[in-house]
Order: sequence, then C-alpha cells, then structure tokens
Amino acid sequence: MSNRLCLAPLVSAEARDILHTRGLLASWASMVGSPFHVILPAIAARNALEWQATVSARDIACDIRFALKSCKSNAVVKAFGLAETGADVSSVGEIRRAIEGYVPPSRISYTGPQKPDHDLMICLSTGIAVHIDTPSEADRLIALAARTKAAPRVMLRLKPDVASHSRFGMSAGTLRQCALALKAADVTIEGISFHLGGYSLEDRVKAAGECLAIASSLEEQGIGCRTIDIGGGFPMRYLEADEEDASLEALPRWGKASMRGDYPYHSSIRGPQAAAEILDGIMSQDRNRAIVKRLDMAVIMEPGRALLDQCGLSVFRVIGRKDTDGGMPQLVLDGMNFSLSETWFGADFLPTPYLVNRHGCFPCTGARFALAGRSCMESDFIRRTGVDFPVEPGAGDLIVFINTAGYQMDSNESRFHEHPLPRKIAAVQTRQGWQPIHDEIYSIEEFQNDHLTHQ
Ligand SMILES: Cc1ncc(COP(=O)(O)O)c(C=O)c1O
Repeated sequence: MSNRLCLAPLVSAEARDILHTRGLLASWASMVGSPFHVILPAIAARNALEWQATVSARDIACDIRFALKSCKSNAVVKAFGLAETGADVSSVGEIRRAIEGYVPPSRISYTGPQKPDHDLMICLSTGIAVHIDTPSEADRLIALAARTKAAPRVMLRLKPDVASHSRFGMSAGTLRQCALALKAADVTIEGISFHLGGYSLEDRVKAAGECLAIASSLEEQGIGCRTIDIGGGFPMRYLEADEEDASLEALPRWGKASMRGDYPYHSSIRGPQAAAEILDGIMSQDRNRAIVKRLDMAVIMEPGRALLDQCGLSVFRVIGRKDTDGGMPQLVLDGMNFSLSETWFGADFLPTPYLVNRHGCFPCTGARFALAGRSCMESDFIRRTGVDFPVEPGAGDLIVFINTAGYQMDSNESRFHEHPLPRKIAAVQTRQGWQPIHDEIYSIEEFQNDHLTHQ
C-alpha cells in the first residue's frame, strides 16, 4: 500500500537481501565506522551489459563510456571496464583510475573545460582523446604535440543552440574556425561532442542533429569527423510510485529548504531506454540518417548516474535524538551532509531511507524526525524533510539510503573536522553469503568470484 508521507525507493533484490540479512550492515559498520557506502560492482557490470544490448539493437553504432565523476568507487570502474565500457574523465586522477579499471586509452574521453598543459601532455602520451573546449586550448594542444611529436586525438565540444547560455563548448562558428586551425596543423578531428544539463531527450536529439550538420559541412572542407559524442544526462528511476505526491511539499521539514531539487526521481523511463529513444530520434530524421550513412558515423555516450542504477547504498549510524522546544525533533547521525550530495542543491535526496536495527529492516512510514549531521554547520542536515519508522529509532541503529552510487555518496565528501573520509565496501556474493571487500583493493579476482557476476 502506498504511503502518502513517504516516497518509497525502488530496491533491487540484492539490496533487499543486504538490508534484511540480520546483523550484516551492523557488522560492516563496526568494521569501517559511520557513514559508509556499500557498492555492488556486479550490478554495475549487469547495467553496462543491458545498455550495450539495448543500444546495439539500434540503427547506428554506439560506444558507451562511463562518466567517472559520478562515483569515486574503484570497484565500479573496474566492473565497468571488465564489462567493456569506456570512460569519460575530467582529471589525471580519473585517467589513472580508468586505466587501473582496465579501460584501454583508445576508449577514454577527456572532457571538461580548459585543461592544464600537464593533463594535455598525459592525453598526448597515452593516446586519450581530448575534447577541446576553446580555440586557445586547441592552440596549446598543437604546441605541445609539436614538442612531443605525438599525434593528438581530438573531439570539438559544441555549445548547441538548446544550451546557448552554457559556459561550456564553442558556438558553431568558433568550432568551425577551430577545426580549420587544427587541420592546418595536421591534426585529425575525430568528432563533435556536447553535454547538456537537464534530462530532455528531445534537446539531445536536436543537439545531435546540429553536430551531424556541422560534421557534414566540415567534410566538404576536407575534415572528416566520424563520431558525435552526446555526453550524459540520462534519466533513471528511483521511486516505486509513478507520480510524486504533490502533498509532499506540505510535509513537516526543518527550515525552508525545498524537498524536491531538480532531479526527476520518478522518471517513467530508465537510462538504457532513454539512450535508445535518443538514438531512434536521431535516426528518424532523413537528413540525419543520410549524414550518418554517408559519413559512416558512430555515437559515443557518457552516462554517469544512470549506469549506476542500484549500484550502492549509504549507511549512517544514529548517535542520538535531540528534541527542540516546539521544533521538529532530530535524529543526529554519525556523518555529515557531504555524504548525501543532493544537499548541494539545497534539496533533499527524495527517496526515503530505511531503518535497520537488531529487530530487522523498517521502511519509512512518517515524517517526525529531521536527520541532522554532526558537524558544527547550521546547514548540516542529511535530510530536512521528516522521516519516521514503525519502531522507535535509537542510538546505534542504522539509517540506510538506497541507490546512492550516482553522485549522492561521494561527490562532496571532505575531511572536515578531521573526520576520515567514509569508507566504501564492495559487496560480493559468495556461497557463504555477502562478503565485504575494501573498495580500494577490489579487482578482477573478486569480480570473477562474485556469484552475482555470473547470473
Ligand atoms: C561532459 C560530461 N559527460 C557526462 C556527464 C555525466 O552525466 P550524467 O551523470 O548525468 O549521465 C557529465 C556530467 O556532468 C558531463 O559533464
């Protein structure tokens, strides 16, 4: 039965098993402290295979590259690499992690604005494709390539009409000039890219059409691009119910923050299907289709969040309860709001958490307590909108958020107050049950031994 006070999350069978295995999360909490994150690398690999199967049934070749910014887990990157997914990176640290995650440099894209010379040099020496954001960045790359005699691999980032106010990318005119300068320096241009904020499929189809039209006109000038990269931003579904309940805005909450943020948590379409709709949308237009066939073009996509669907949980231990005069009571958790990054946007992470204690696992059924962090910041609330459970929460109980691997768990984490960075545990399914592996040491051996990998 749906509960109007809560937004029940979709929970995978594996996460449900972890939540309901008595003592499991408590024993992991006593091993690594609070908060901590659980990573399910075998689900990451399963997601990647589902994406590949879905897009490979379309009428255009497609390469999927996981956007590493969306999760700092070593285990998920390795699982994606082992499932033959490429990587989208934005720093040398992410390049290192992608290569350690078994991703060949030929399938790594370096995106992001104006990259420092050091990063450009690493791309040159490894053969990683650089997504050029400005003509001056192209000039620096040309100069560095001349010095090292390495052949650069280049994509040009477009600022599409549907994102004309973005700080990223180049207008079509600037991009054309940049392409000509690169051609004059004998640099091969592999393709044209964009990344859009928001989750509109239609805007992505429009922007892809613009890229194809530019590729076609560059071809006439002797510049033969063969790919378009449509970036990330694929919706994924977090909530069980189809519709957000409008009455949720009226729920008790600490302070004035909005509950909602701008993520479509209730999206009716999931990542791989969204990707397929975009590809079909591109190919449904005769002009696009003709260019794709004539130039033999392929699409790269860089999903982050949506590839991480059901790949992680975040667990906070309750320290105690604080009652305030007339205000909303708080459960104070052993952690900070940096470990649930939706607070970045002044909003709550909408799906409601579970309470896990020695009696079992309980869904949220009310809105009595705000969840406060333990730092000295007034703003440190892990969830301002109330939660409540069928049993009274107490010290030592665990509050567990579902489906947090995409951006929620570690985008903002810091060592504020000298608290250690929260640890990640890769959960591997063995004949004896769930086995915890420190995320940092997870590698191909654990991947191969995980029963979940083979299901
Ligand atoms: C260039 C680029 N590619 C891919 C992504 C991943 O987006 P998402 O996690 O929404 O799929 C981002 C996110 O900011 C990005 O900037």
